[in-house]
Amino acid sequence: MRKPIIAGNWKMNGALEEAQKLAQGVVDALGDAKNADVAVCPPFTALSAVSMIVKGTNVKLGAQNCNENDSGAYTGEISPVFLKELGVDYCIIGHSERRQYYAETDAKINAKAKALYQHGIIPIICVGELLDERKAGRTLDVVLGQVRGCLAELPREKMIESVIAYEPVWAIGTGEVATPEQAQEVHAAIRAELAKLFDQELADAVRLQYGGSMKPDNAEGLMAKADIDGGLIGGAALKADSFAGIVACC
Ligand code: 13P
Repeated sequence: MRKPIIAGNWKMNGALEEAQKLAQGVVDALGDAKNADVAVCPPFTALSAVSMIVKGTNVKLGAQNCNENDSGAYTGEISPVFLKELGVDYCIIGHSERRQYYAETDAKINAKAKALYQHGIIPIICVGELLDERKAGRTLDVVLGQVRGCLAELPREKMIESVIAYEPVWAIGTGEVATPEQAQEVHAAIRAELAKLFDQELADAVRLQYGGSMKPDNAEGLMAKADIDGGLIGGAALKADSFAGIVACC
């Protein structure tokens, strides 16, 4: 039985005081949550402060990106070593906003996953199609291509603990959520691809999150589907009560 995992991707929201308040609100609501693994992913600048707030609770800490190198001349970048030092448990990689605005490729995301593994941080690997790709009937081609690229040569023993987030780009921040059937179709295809790339045991163990306009009032229907094991939440993660409302659906 896969334990659901709900992660809040705060994106570029949460100056220090606001981030501390939100983290405290999440801890007050979910600090002893047992029905799901819960994580908050604040901006880098708030990781340290939020780390202190979530410490010792059931709320885990995530980052939104990392560099694939441990150190060096990479101005403006953040190493997985620095994240580990702050107690980061998870790191989102390959979010569609990074693919779109910062030209991240599957190969880069693959390198980031390998770097995170070196430091015991669990990647949340994002995939998802654009609206035009869906309209052209290319959803599964695109998403499974991303899965193969991002997961190339990842070690099985690490991959089995990793998380994949299916986030259709057209559903992100638009209020237009995928139907449970649309999401389930892609999740089932990702799981079948995992069985091909690795084996059935791994495919059955890896948790697949849905992301894109997930809210307390649509989370239950999505998570009722066989292959949907939680959510990567944007807008609704910026209020502790709506985030907690989604966790309550698990
Ligand atoms: P929204 O929940 O705001 O649509 O964002 C989803 C997302 O991109 C999470 O990573």
